[in-house]
Amino acid sequence: MKCNSVCILGGTGFVGRYIASRLATSDKRIRLLTRNRERHRELLVIPNLELVEADVFDTRQLETHLKGMDAVINLIGILNETGHNGEEFRKVHVDLPKSIVGACLSLGIPRLLHMSAINADANTGPSIYLRTKGEGENAVHTFATNRLAVTSFRPSVIFGPNDSFLNRFAGLLKKLPLVFPLACADARFAPVYVGDVAERFIKALDDPSTYGKRFDLCGPQEYSLKELVEYTAHILGLKRWVIGLPDFASKMQAYVLEWFPGKPFSVDNYRSLQIDSVCRDTELQPTSLDMITPSYLGNSNRYIEYDRYRKQTGKY
Ligand SMILES: NC(=O)c1ccc[n+]([C@@H]2O[C@H](COP(=O)([O-])OP(=O)(O)OC[C@H]3O[C@@H](n4cnc5c(N)ncnc54)[C@H](OP(=O)(O)O)[C@@H]3O)[C@@H](O)[C@H]2O)c1
Repeated sequence: MKCNSVCILGGTGFVGRYIASRLATSDKRIRLLTRNRERHRELLVIPNLELVEADVFDTRQLETHLKGMDAVINLIGILNETGHNGEEFRKVHVDLPKSIVGACLSLGIPRLLHMSAINADANTGPSIYLRTKGEGENAVHTFATNRLAVTSFRPSVIFGPNDSFLNRFAGLLKKLPLVFPLACADARFAPVYVGDVAERFIKALDDPSTYGKRFDLCGPQEYSLKELVEYTAHILGLKRWVIGLPDFASKMQAYVLEWFPGKPFSVDNYRSLQIDSVCRDTELQPTSLDMITPSYLGNSNRYIEYDRYRKQTGKY
């Protein structure tokens, strides 16, 4: 089964733009659904891309815009909700994937790629984010039948130009002089490059060996959160003393920041960080952090310095 047309939900975001721009060089027709077409008008330069404003939570609108497509890629996800009761997490991570499967089945769309997250688990996930991600992932695999081939992807933190992880720390490091207090500093990650993630999605589209499978996606190296923040400071040429907060202070920080505008850190984020975001027994994606990040966080001279520093200290 070759997919000639693909509808991407969440295609205007960080990962979605990579997938869309990779598909732009293919012969596939791309349709992106967005809440606000005006905000993403620059995507219209892609000749085989159609940008459509839609409320994907409205089943009728969803079906209208999925009609005629050969495949759907669902990337919609949130790291925090505006409320505090888990309702928005359920709506986005569980109800939406279920209605996407329902729409695919009723319209006869044969292929669905679904974005989950590493450690997503409906029963044992320590946070609402991870439990709802796990529930949504299970739902798409359970409700799929032999008429709909589903593949899901479970990445660790994703990096690349415009990521919201390293760029966020870069912004904070620039604002805070000297000392950088860091919650959950020992949490471990295996950052995976957005280009590698996009490649896995695109290859899977037409690959029957991926049907029904769930793939963990991790980069080649593991780091603690403290190492990642120190690495970011070094690339930026900033001298900062990164201090890992004890557990009670990390929790307190989460309780306080959860009430700040935009929820820079929440109790649910704190809970997600209680397990390491790393892969076990999986083939690792090839691109390492230091092949890419210096080009968007700092400049290449700093990278040469950083490479020297890493060789001398053995630190990543
Ligand atoms: N980035 C990471 O490090 C990472 C790690 C693990 C898993 N993931 C998962 O990967 C997926 C993509 O991540 P990303 O970093 O590309 O996310 P992103 O940049 O926030 O993009 C997600 C897109 O989904 C749409 N969206 C967000 N909230 C929505 C809502 N409440 N209702 C409808 N549409 C909504 C938005 O499109 P419009 O505004 O155009 O509607 C947005 O552009 C997510 O499912 C995320 O959980 C990401």
